[in-house]
Amino acid sequence: MIVPTVECDPSAPSASPWTDDPPLTVTVVYGTRPEAVKTAPLVAALRKDPRFEPLVLVTGQHREMLDQVNEVFGIVPDVDLDIHRAGQTLTDVTVGCLVGIERELSLRRPDAVVVQGDTTTAFTVALAGFYQRVPVIHLEAGLRTNDVHGPFPEEINRRLATQLAALHLAPTWESRRNLLRENVDPSRIVVTGNTVIDALHQAVGARRPYGDDALEAELEAESDAGPRPVLLVTAHRRESWGEPMAGIGRAVARLARRYPHYLVVFPVHRNPIVREAVLPALRDLANVRITEPLPYGGFARLMDRATLILTDSGGVQEEGPSLGKPVLVLRDTTERPEAVRAGTVALVGTAEDAVVAAVSKVIDDPEVRARMARAVNPYGDGQAARRGVEALAHHFGRGPWPDEFGPFRTDGSGPDDVRRVPSPVGTASC
Ligand code: UD1
Ligand code: UDP
Repeated sequence: MIVPTVECDPSAPSASPWTDDPPLTVTVVYGTRPEAVKTAPLVAALRKDPRFEPLVLVTGQHREMLDQVNEVFGIVPDVDLDIHRAGQTLTDVTVGCLVGIERELSLRRPDAVVVQGDTTTAFTVALAGFYQRVPVIHLEAGLRTNDVHGPFPEEINRRLATQLAALHLAPTWESRRNLLRENVDPSRIVVTGNTVIDALHQAVGARRPYGDDALEAELEAESDAGPRPVLLVTAHRRESWGEPMAGIGRAVARLARRYPHYLVVFPVHRNPIVREAVLPALRDLANVRITEPLPYGGFARLMDRATLILTDSGGVQEEGPSLGKPVLVLRDTTERPEAVRAGTVALVGTAEDAVVAAVSKVIDDPEVRARMARAVNPYGDGQAARRGVEALAHHFGRGPWPDEFGPFRTDGSGPDDVRRVPSPVGTASC
């Protein structure tokens, strides 16, 4: 096959002159709720592009929480490894994914395999791709806390994924800089923005039901009397299991008692370890609503409705700022410093008293709340999936280097180093 060399013109139609080539087969793999949310826009963009023939493979690391997201985005996976087991250990997930993916990749021999983020699904699929010599595309590459124990095991999962990937789709310039520090070849990094913002725009725009009838009725009914302030809470991190998680439960209970005019909504992760830790303190509180995990559309609408958000979630840390919501993070470190710098996100840790004090400060001080409630978009502009597809096309010599996501200099770095070099795979030069 002769691949033409093109001048790099981002405004040029990207498909021409490569469309006569057979489509590239891309196996997109995910297994948990956040991966499903962040991969859905890429799946949609790949499906629309004649240069690609995507296949959706889910490991089933999560079950109900994964299916919930696929349903919202209308994705029916082509292959489901269905590895989920109640009480699964990290080893169970690792082995289940590795064995299943090896079988699928050796059978199908795709041109590329896409993994997302930092879960055990992402790491093991990257490893299986490497073993099978299938180029690994890492979506949401380059996030770092530089603490190997926090988040656990995600910080190591994503570093290992970096070592195994052929193309790194970095959400921000800061994540790109992290990759450069680890000597990743700049010609293999494209700054796309985070696909979670693509997904969020779609979900919030759809104004879906919350997914909990009692909550729907309660939040709808109050609209005559004026909106009731809402504190939205989520927590699940493995490094917080046990006493820190129990402390989070107690802190939320104290806040509910201190601010009875607030409605506290806590969609609890399905993990029984999380439930056993947080729920005892939250029973019998009149203004606390414990729900099952909400479908993505409903949860997005609830974030939009919330007054402030208390969470240890990675995705919610990215979504909240985009909706102009103050986000208080139940962690000591974050791999998403951009919104902390912008002032809409604050780290509060997991210690009970510290959490109560930090949330109280935001509730009590309208100025603090107003300062934090500015909509900022350091993570994306809704175009990340399109850029990801363009980056893939460029990587395989089927298109020019894509336009990249700004803002370029939130962290003092920028697109000023030399990296417009020929793609290692294709010959399109930009
Ligand atoms: C996983 C990811 C984490 C991600 C989180 C998102 C790893 C190591 N962890 O953590 O990075 O932030 O997902 O939520 O990859 N369960 C169900 N149904 C479900 C999902 C989970 O019952 O749909 C229960 C099961 O008992 C399971 C437990 O939750 O054993 C834990 O699930 P697991 O995927 O192992 O870890 P998470 O804590 O969810
Ligand atoms: N989310 C959801 N329903 C819920 C709670 C969260 O759809 O009840 C979404 C949330 O908007 C975000 C993603 O799930 O996009 C985050 O998942 P999670 O917190 O489980 O994982 P993390 O992002 O921490 O890896």
